[in-house]
Amino acid sequence: MARHILLNAFNMNCVGHINHGLWTHPRDTSTQYKTLEYWTDLARLLERGLFDGLFIADIVGTYDVYGQSLDVPLKESIQLPVNDPLLLVSAMAAVTRHLGFGLTANLTYESPYLFARRLSTLDHLSNGRVGWNIVTGYLDSAARAMGLSQQPEHDRRYDQADEYLQVLYKLLEGSWADDAVVADRQQRVYAQPDKVRKVQHHGAFYDVDGYHLCEPSPQRTPVLFQAGSSPRGLAFAGNHAECVFISGQDKAATRTQVDKVRAAAVAAGRTANAVKVFMGITVIVAPTEQQAQARHAEYLRHASAEAGVAHFAASTGIDFAAYGLDEPIAFRQGNAIQSATRQLQSDAWTRRRLLQQHALGGRYVTLVGDPQQVAEQLIAWADDTGLDGFNLTRTVTPESFEDFIELVVPQLQKRGRYKTAYAAGTLREKLFDASHPHLPADHPGSAYRFTPYPAPTGALHHA
Ligand SMILES: Cc1cc2nc3c(=O)[nH]c(=O)nc-3n(C[C@H](O)[C@H](O)[C@H](O)COP(=O)(O)O)c2cc1C
Repeated sequence: MARHILLNAFNMNCVGHINHGLWTHPRDTSTQYKTLEYWTDLARLLERGLFDGLFIADIVGTYDVYGQSLDVPLKESIQLPVNDPLLLVSAMAAVTRHLGFGLTANLTYESPYLFARRLSTLDHLSNGRVGWNIVTGYLDSAARAMGLSQQPEHDRRYDQADEYLQVLYKLLEGSWADDAVVADRQQRVYAQPDKVRKVQHHGAFYDVDGYHLCEPSPQRTPVLFQAGSSPRGLAFAGNHAECVFISGQDKAATRTQVDKVRAAAVAAGRTANAVKVFMGITVIVAPTEQQAQARHAEYLRHASAEAGVAHFAASTGIDFAAYGLDEPIAFRQGNAIQSATRQLQSDAWTRRRLLQQHALGGRYVTLVGDPQQVAEQLIAWADDTGLDGFNLTRTVTPESFEDFIELVVPQLQKRGRYKTAYAAGTLREKLFDASHPHLPADHPGSAYRFTPYPAPTGALHHA
């Protein structure tokens, strides 16, 4: 049987996320991001469309690279202002039963002890529907705001992340036994003292000497997402990630990247299919091809290519505003997102070319067509590259998600490539067709599960 395509809606707790400038479109509602209704309506809509999850990006810091100022980010609202993603979940979980929540949080600025409690709390309240997108940050503006002179060096951020994950596994997996809580009214025993263990972690980055504050949640460790694709990022993903998010530009490069992710999992002692790979994609669909083209043209009139390039400047750490329109852009591998910078290395880029690439305000692959065309292109992308699914960006919101659900989902279902009902269970069980909500046995985090004996130190593999 052909594989079902997995699908997350890609969003952020802000106005301008990926396809910049579209907040100026008269039908766009993204300026309502500050209201609960905006999010509860979206969650209901996505569950109606059987989306696996709502993936919420986040950024700590501001995009002050382009022109070395915040003028464009503030005027165009490029991920600024931006509210906290985790605080949205309870409300959305209350109005849905199945939708998963992929939540981005930057570990560099979060104490693992407190963050573990927030994750467990949300996993309880959502009945096992949360995932964590592990990011380490790439902005010096964030480091300065948090009291550092600059952010830690690229590979060292991943070393820190490795240790952070170890601490989380110890807290989430190892501090409480499955049967620690008995809630026995007669005996007056809520939790059995011998089934709750203190975590003692003393490493290069973190010292934790304490008990996890929460009783075991349905998944314990939330589903782990990650997005780095540099060599060090891939080694990290191979060890920890259950879902990897990539941004591809063409099928050949995407196939290579998908293969690298799976090889990294195998190098870490896991199976190639232990990781689901998602690619960001933009879809503009209408009942006929002509109408879809017209809609695309209409959106383009509201989009801001300059805002897209200003966003990309922050991703690469390169100030494109300092270049003339046709001046070749000097490739420089900096301390930001290496995979973003690599794109510039591969070709002769100028600011004019970047502006053309960002015509819709973003640089994700954009499919424009009628429902059959879009469904077939999505299937071809999945089959030709080995991708498991997509993170669907928004254009005019919620219109673009509504159009997708009304027009594309039935076409994918007709072709047997999309579920017709949710599976039972937690987010992990749904995504992996698993019968168990916890990390699988070949995942390094499972080595930290509570045992009657001292917890193992758990060596990580470095590819
Ligand atoms: C598709 C994609 C989405 C990302 N989303 C976020 C995000 O929401 N927040 C964030 O701080 N970093 C985000 N990142 C940055 C990554 O988490 C990571 O820091 C970055 O890719 C650096 O990794 P690399 O140099 O190993 O590629 C994203 C990266 C990619 C490729």
